[in-house]
Amino acid sequence: MRVGGVAYRTIWRQPDGSIAFIDQSFLPHRFVVAECRRLEELAEAIRKMHIRGAIALGAAAAYGLELAAREASDAELGEVLHRAALLLKRTRPTAVNIAWAVDTVLSALPGAVTPEELRSRLRHAVDELVEREVERCRRIGEYGASLLEQIAQRTGGLVRILTHCNAGWLGCVDYGTALAPVYVAANHGVALHIWVSETRPRNQGAALTAWELQQQGIPYTVVADSTCGLLLQRGLVDVTIVGADRITRRGDTANKIGTYLKALACRQHGVPFYVAAPTSSVDWNCTEGSAIPIEERSPEEVHTVSGLSAGQILSVRLTPEGAAAWNPAFDITPAEMITGLITEYGIFPATQQGLEQLAACAHGEP
Ligand code: MRU
Repeated sequence: MRVGGVAYRTIWRQPDGSIAFIDQSFLPHRFVVAECRRLEELAEAIRKMHIRGAIALGAAAAYGLELAAREASDAELGEVLHRAALLLKRTRPTAVNIAWAVDTVLSALPGAVTPEELRSRLRHAVDELVEREVERCRRIGEYGASLLEQIAQRTGGLVRILTHCNAGWLGCVDYGTALAPVYVAANHGVALHIWVSETRPRNQGAALTAWELQQQGIPYTVVADSTCGLLLQRGLVDVTIVGADRITRRGDTANKIGTYLKALACRQHGVPFYVAAPTSSVDWNCTEGSAIPIEERSPEEVHTVSGLSAGQILSVRLTPEGAAAWNPAFDITPAEMITGLITEYGIFPATQQGLEQLAACAHGEP
């Protein structure tokens, strides 16, 4: 994706081995590239959501193992990687991509004879994981764009898409998941308008999705989360597409808090509700959505809101001092409410059978 005409990924390795990333905590007001040299710095950037979004988190976790290996002596390498894996998996519990990335990279290491070989295999595994994630998102864009083109034929032109949180390029390494089809369809000349729900309490929609759509020149309108029911009731949405942090074997999907309410309203008003995600977001060991761990973040995120004032990014208090607040970061949309899963292998039903078909595609690939 391009920012001010320059192509960027959201996270990358620098020639000196440090990891650079777009610090999302400054967006949309400032474009800041930050860097980490130590595992603990990267883990903190994940916890504080300077890097966020399931696919970007998976990539960050993979790079985190690499930073841990850089710090370790040859003798302690195995133990350091083991501890790094535990630390990374604990940073944010809902996005399965973190554990998936850590396990994928570590599974490439057994059999290495020397520490040099192990370090080289680690680096190669990280590169391969990141490149494959980019390719998965690119393919999601192609399949999702075909869907949008079909909808455009039905509507006679404009396709109005509702999305929640940021499941765009910023939440991935490149392209996006829910927004990847938007970028591809726009390139194919499909007329689009995106309804961006603000996504309290962290406002990833208002801050990040709005910013990235603006960078790519896609028309959009930001609405308060509470406006989406009215939008759907008035027939102003043709399709809803969201991302995922974890999809179970039967298709139940964890995504940003507020997603479930949108799925409910879509069902009420007969609007198709799609989840766009790569197979790295599927937890093949989990069947029921109720078993997905839901991250609870600090109540401070509910008590406050951050924004730009006189050129400065400030956080201001919303609630009375002493108010109680609860801040679950994700909710679960039951599979029955999902029209389909847009994946790198095509669009599958959100059912056990659909996921089995998807698994057959995924496991048949090298
Ligand atoms: O808490 P966040 O901002 O990391 O949550 C992000 C989401 O819920 C996204 O929809 C999801 O991770 C998909 S990102 C490609």
